Amino acid sequence: MSFCTIPLKSTIKILILCFISNSLYSQMNSNDLIDKKVDSLLNLMTLEEKVGQMNLYNGFWDVTGPVPQEGSAEQKYEHLKKGWVGAMLSVRGVEQVREVQKVAVEESRLGIPLIFGFDVIHGYKTLSPIPLAESCSWDLEAIEKSARVAAIEASSVGLNWTFAPMVDISRDARWGRVMEGAGEDPFLGSQIAKARVKGFQGDDLSANNTLAATAKHFAAYGFIEAGREYNSVDIGTSTLYNTVLPPFKAAVDANVRSVMNSFNEINGIPVTASKFLQRDILKGKWNFNGFVVSDWASIWELINWGHAKDKREAAKLASTAGSDMDMEGYVYIEELVKLVNDGTVKESIVDDAVKRILRLKYELGLFDNPYKYCNESREKSTLYHKDHQEAALDIAKKSIVLLKNENNLLPLKKEGQKIALIGALASEKNSPLGSWRIASDDNTAISVLEGMQQYKDNSLVYEKGVDLTIGKTHFVEEVVINETDKSNFPKAIEAAKDADVVVMVLGEHGFQSGEARSRTQIDLPGLQQELLEEVYKANKNIVLVLNNGRPLAIEWADKHIPTIVEAWQLGSQTGNAVAQVLYGDYNPSGKLTMTFPRNVGQVPIYYNYKSTGRPINREGNVFWSHYIDSERTPLYAFGHGLSYTSFEYGNFKINGKTFNINDTVEVSVDVTNSGNYNGKEVVQLYIRDLFGSITRPVRELKGFELVELKKGETKTIQFKLDKSLLGFYNNEGEFIVEAGDFKVFVGGSSMTTLEKSFELIE
Ligand code: BGC
Repeated sequence: MSFCTIPLKSTIKILILCFISNSLYSQMNSNDLIDKKVDSLLNLMTLEEKVGQMNLYNGFWDVTGPVPQEGSAEQKYEHLKKGWVGAMLSVRGVEQVREVQKVAVEESRLGIPLIFGFDVIHGYKTLSPIPLAESCSWDLEAIEKSARVAAIEASSVGLNWTFAPMVDISRDARWGRVMEGAGEDPFLGSQIAKARVKGFQGDDLSANNTLAATAKHFAAYGFIEAGREYNSVDIGTSTLYNTVLPPFKAAVDANVRSVMNSFNEINGIPVTASKFLQRDILKGKWNFNGFVVSDWASIWELINWGHAKDKREAAKLASTAGSDMDMEGYVYIEELVKLVNDGTVKESIVDDAVKRILRLKYELGLFDNPYKYCNESREKSTLYHKDHQEAALDIAKKSIVLLKNENNLLPLKKEGQKIALIGALASEKNSPLGSWRIASDDNTAISVLEGMQQYKDNSLVYEKGVDLTIGKTHFVEEVVINETDKSNFPKAIEAAKDADVVVMVLGEHGFQSGEARSRTQIDLPGLQQELLEEVYKANKNIVLVLNNGRPLAIEWADKHIPTIVEAWQLGSQTGNAVAQVLYGDYNPSGKLTMTFPRNVGQVPIYYNYKSTGRPINREGNVFWSHYIDSERTPLYAFGHGLSYTSFEYGNFKINGKTFNINDTVEVSVDVTNSGNYNGKEVVQLYIRDLFGSITRPVRELKGFELVELKKGETKTIQFKLDKSLLGFYNNEGEFIVEAGDFKVFVGGSSMTTLEKSFELIE
């Protein structure tokens, strides 16, 4: 259907359509053409209609934050009719989307179509693993595919815009939202940001099965103090430039169409009002031509921060700072027209924002067909499609990290064994979906129990041992953890006594991580630790399978339990993925992307820390950088992850000793599968710039390759290090490369000891 076939009520609409029709600009390239169309349309808009485009309303169903004022459905419909809404969030399903779009297109004066946004974080109905888990696959192709599948499903229900990927780097496992990111490293985080943007947006944004992506939360939300949700951030410029911003820059380079700002402040300025971040860096230095959407009511929250005294000031600060769209804050729609009319805010600021928003609407092809994503039969045949389930299973297996495997307890033998499966999470069909499953249906995950039941030639006994939660869980509700009822302990202990191998599935409920789910204790919640210790007394042959949305402090388990598998929350296909790994039908290949601490007191703990002035215990006295009650080393390091086979590294070479700053350093290493299974290894390369005008981390990931090796096979892996990898940002935000001594490390984790040196000269 072309836009011209949509019933138009007023003559003015016809005029507009002619004015912006393709024929008028048929000779131009598509970017110029869009700019011209946008300009033409802008010329016809009243100030109220322009400000309307900057207004994003939540639909009438899901709420993902507190609402500053009650926006009634009637009021929202009134505003839609007046053309005072640019986009909607959480309106979903073809029927609903069509209904709302119809109001905008057919009842408003100019008939400008709406964009429909939603938190499509790790799938829509079919859920892939939580993003932190996916990042542990280090498999960019699979990660891109996962986002592609999510886009296919979500676009089939009428949506065209996702609030993902979250590219916030975080080092703090107390923060519940680490589950939504790609871990602690800016290099890996940047690659994953690109892959996810590419997956969502595809090659053609105007296709009806792609979504405009959003890089969020700009910026530094992952560094909130003490991991307490929505808290302040206080980081230095070096961390901002070198750790926080690179994944956002990568997303912008990958043509992400929108960026969401965040709830935190930096240097006393809530970022929603930060001109420095939004105008100077994002839209200035990086030349970002998409638009900035506020986070949920974050413009209004400028008042709570004590930065704006009222809505009027909040609107002024946020709009001049470069926040283009107000999500459910009711601030722009109420204040911005007045501010422009009395000369406080320049109309050019509004025009710039509106152009960016309209540009996306043209890019999506909404002016040609505002209902292009609305097809019921496609919706029906797309959701939970078997291809999507297969893709979800594929990445779920790849996301699992084998943390420990003493005595080769894994893989399990496929027959003749008595297995006791213990833990409430083992039979969970809801928790593995995580807390960002708004659209997916409850209890649709395959549980670990169901997965293991498919291996029929062992005897399998299941005992939950202890309830993890008490009461009903629901989105936005907090789960209530069982702290008292141990009545099922004895049955689990009995089952363990009788088993050859005990598989225990323990960890966090899906609703214990995610937004607004910070924890001060990051051990096994409830009575699970106690259960683990009791079962261990009965049978030491335990395979501990962890389900969680953040690194956990499991020092006791590491000391006692022979085999530990990190299985996160793996989405719809959880049970199949876990069972295939436990039984060796998939050889685990994941590597951690966030450091596991020994205890919560070590947090924030990360691999790319600074040396400090007292890094080692040189003289045997107390005055060095350490704790007196704990090791300073992590429990499991970034990049760590085992396989059922083993890998050997040899023939590590650099193509010289001294290089000019403009040269490319070539590094190669042979990797051999020296064990008994075919398998995959993530070969990692780290550098250390020994002396810098800004001190450099002790290690920085600068390359990786996921390599598949048959038993006995050797492959040579090559890396190239050029200026872009050897340099860093100074405190003025300039990218510089300094001459000096470097070390290079290669291996299967950030703790690798294989090292070589070279020198860069000018
Ligand atoms: C979250 C965003 C999310 C938005 C819309 C906010 O509370 O911080 O990440 O996209 O809600 O649901």
